[in-house]
Amino acid sequence: MRYESITEAIGNTPLVRIDPAVHGLRHIDLYAKLELLNPFGSVKDRAAWNMARPGLAAAAEHGSQVVELSSGNTAKALAVIAGMHGLPFKSVTNRMRIPEIKDLLLLLGADIEELPGQSECLDPTNTEDPLTLFHRELSEPGSSYLHTDQYFNPRNTEAHATGTGPEIVKDLDGRAPDWFVACVGTAGSSTGVARVLREHDPRVRVVGLVAAKSDFIPGIRTLDEVHEVGLFDPATYDTVESVGSDEAIEGMLTLARRCGILAGPTGGAAYYGTVRHLRSIDEELTYSQSVESDGETGDAGPRRSAVFIVCDRIESYLSYTKRRRPDLFRQPPRRNDPADLTDAEVAAAPAVDVPDARKWIERDRPLVVDLRSPFAYAALHIEGAINIVDQLFDELVRGGLPFSTRQPVLLVCPVGEQSARYAALLTRMGHPEVRSLSGGVIAWRDAGAPLVRD
Ligand SMILES: Cc1ncc(COP(=O)(O)O)c(C=O)c1O
Repeated sequence: MRYESITEAIGNTPLVRIDPAVHGLRHIDLYAKLELLNPFGSVKDRAAWNMARPGLAAAAEHGSQVVELSSGNTAKALAVIAGMHGLPFKSVTNRMRIPEIKDLLLLLGADIEELPGQSECLDPTNTEDPLTLFHRELSEPGSSYLHTDQYFNPRNTEAHATGTGPEIVKDLDGRAPDWFVACVGTAGSSTGVARVLREHDPRVRVVGLVAAKSDFIPGIRTLDEVHEVGLFDPATYDTVESVGSDEAIEGMLTLARRCGILAGPTGGAAYYGTVRHLRSIDEELTYSQSVESDGETGDAGPRRSAVFIVCDRIESYLSYTKRRRPDLFRQPPRRNDPADLTDAEVAAAPAVDVPDARKWIERDRPLVVDLRSPFAYAALHIEGAINIVDQLFDELVRGGLPFSTRQPVLLVCPVGEQSARYAALLTRMGHPEVRSLSGGVIAWRDAGAPLVRD
């Protein structure tokens, strides 16, 4: 294979059969579409190239900056593509949560602009999401940026309708699989592939996978967030199911250790979600075929097939994995993890509403801990509050109680959800007087209580 440019190596990724001894399904052949083997490392290489390509010549002429709202694989691919065309690239995001990817983007020469998301309420008196405002500015006519706009750009979906989907059909000898399973981020890959597969066979069942509520699997949305994505159409999926981060890591380990596929967490989630979805279907097939073979026909029936997408590679997620599974790195097991709380514990977390919180602050001077991002805190916060961003707070509690038990503590976050989890956790750890501010900074603002700016 000889290419004139690395971009020609995007696509045509292998479809690899997973050993049935690993997945245990008796009647279904399971195939992994290895998007991790794209040249910049992920499924997003296709979308990035397809979205950027038409604008590159004009951007080079005007010296425009390439911009995308991405903190992951799209940004990585665009940083490379922009660099190859002599253009600067800026990644705009509300928080870079994967340090390896942030470092890689910097290494590739990207500019990173971190804006708070709406839920972090940069300015609680302004209900507009800073990212939405930025998105609007980028999309205005006459914008000097080359904005690839992955959440709304039909060329994102098209990259998969012309590439990924047809490749799967070709590798299955002109047939669509019986099931297609994909994680949903922008929804571009699942939508584009599903469209092509259904054209070949309308009976294909499409399963979309998202992260479980209040969980985090880098690159994909949670059940709550998925409806906010411009390209997401519920009609694309026969079902949308959620996978937890622990399950994603389990899947990732199986793919890496037993199949030789060095997938990242969404590849693991896709494998785990596919096998989980198909297990009972496979059992039904076993049952119906045993009934048939006892009877007249003895027909074992045709084998079924399923395809899932492996979006990217494992290497960027070592710290993500270590945080959740220190045992895999020969470190002591995680302690004091809010993910281990039961729903009942969170529901019973000590909380205080705004009027009572104001009286409590006046009377007992609790330590007010604001868990939002430094941007949001700097814009407006409760007077006297200290800022410990949630990620850092998470680290602190792993080491034990971060405050004296004699110090009353009021935890504050955007809407009172995260603070409730930490209040439940600190209570479980033995703190006698910790409370969560019900409704968070939003409720404080709505009650007209004072906020200060640094
Ligand atoms: C690691 C990872 N997995 C899955 C996806 C989902 O792909 P899509 O945006 O096409 O829905 C993404 C998208 O960014 C991703 O980065």
